[in-house]
Amino acid sequence: MICLAAPGAAMAQAVVPPDDASPSAGPPGGGVPTESLGASSDADMWRAVRQGVEGQVSIPDKQAGVLIQSDGEVWRVVRNGPVTFYGGMAVIGIVLLLALFFLIRGRVRVEAGLAGVTISRFNGLERFSHWLTAVSFLILAFTGLNVMFGRYLLKPLIGAQAFADITLAGKFLHNYVAFAFMAGLVLVLVLWIKDNIPNRYDLVWIGKAGGMLSRGTHPPAKKFNAGQKVIFWLVVLGGLSVSLSGISLLFPFQTAFFSKTFEAVNLLGFDLPANLTAMQEMQLSQVWHGVVALFLVIVIIAHIYIGTIGMEGAFDAMGSGRVDLNWAREHHSIWVEELERKGALDPRPAEDAETAETAKPQAAS
Ligand code: HEM
Repeated sequence: MICLAAPGAAMAQAVVPPDDASPSAGPPGGGVPTESLGASSDADMWRAVRQGVEGQVSIPDKQAGVLIQSDGEVWRVVRNGPVTFYGGMAVIGIVLLLALFFLIRGRVRVEAGLAGVTISRFNGLERFSHWLTAVSFLILAFTGLNVMFGRYLLKPLIGAQAFADITLAGKFLHNYVAFAFMAGLVLVLVLWIKDNIPNRYDLVWIGKAGGMLSRGTHPPAKKFNAGQKVIFWLVVLGGLSVSLSGISLLFPFQTAFFSKTFEAVNLLGFDLPANLTAMQEMQLSQVWHGVVALFLVIVIIAHIYIGTIGMEGAFDAMGSGRVDLNWAREHHSIWVEELERKGALDPRPAEDAETAETAKPQAAS
């Protein structure tokens, strides 16, 4: 048992710093019968307590012998300070930036006009994998953002009790939906990795900003252009990192990802602390999880913008799985040429009446 309220002998029985905690530590277990600290002084013990030295406690959880952990205060200040503040600003910033971009550039249109003919872009498995990843990510994002910002934004609106109920439900959802996200991530990785290896067209695409800034510019691209490859790798690597840190939060004190990572990084000549305590591991995992997740939220807001209102014809790729031929020619010209060469284009009249009506027949060759 640990008793903070009763200093002196009772405390000493509960928490006894290890023998090497101080140079003046007495004989192991106390050298003088009837005095639990033996030859060591109260001051030595309290200094060790203040320094977070893991004391010897009689209960099985030895970590409970750490009574003061200053890193906890650092973690709290960082988490509730810069992470929350700058993270919140960045989320608002990307929304404002996209709104501004939309006002200036408008929707990226299919400049040749819709062909009224569609070709297959993503099959059922690809779309299932995308939406599994997407829907689970959105649930994780909203429930996670609530944990970080809910007390400032939601609680004043709905009251403490309703906020507590929603946050508790959100916590369970977050913990379980995480597994669906990880499954989606694996599927997306396996299905699309071959199309996301950088190639020689990517630099040209980046040089021309994908044609997003000026009309009439359509840099060539295979199935995925450089911008999409960036999204893919950020989702895969960011998703992996957020998953690993999430696992260490879900199963507390069982992992040592940071110690192991720092150990590996130190091989490159760095001097990072590689002997972290289990509590420090948890604190780093928590901050890292929040920062990487916020970064992914920002990336995905931009992705959702371009997949919906930002670009005409883009949503169909993940909706019906079929895209307008002229859209495909403008955004993925090499991919279309490759399909044509293989005789795998599979063109069909657009089912959407509006698309078919507004189509420019000459454009679909
Ligand atoms: C919920 C709103 C979302 C919409 C409307 C949406 C829409 C789309 C569309 C239309 C594409 C295909 C683009 C093409 O034809 O090349 C796509 C691709 C992709 N999506 Fe989403 N998506 C959403 C959410 C997400 C989320 C939450 C993730 C991951 C966390 C994600 C990850 C991806 C990836 C990795 C690709 C392939 C690379 C790329 O095209 O950027 N999407 N999405």
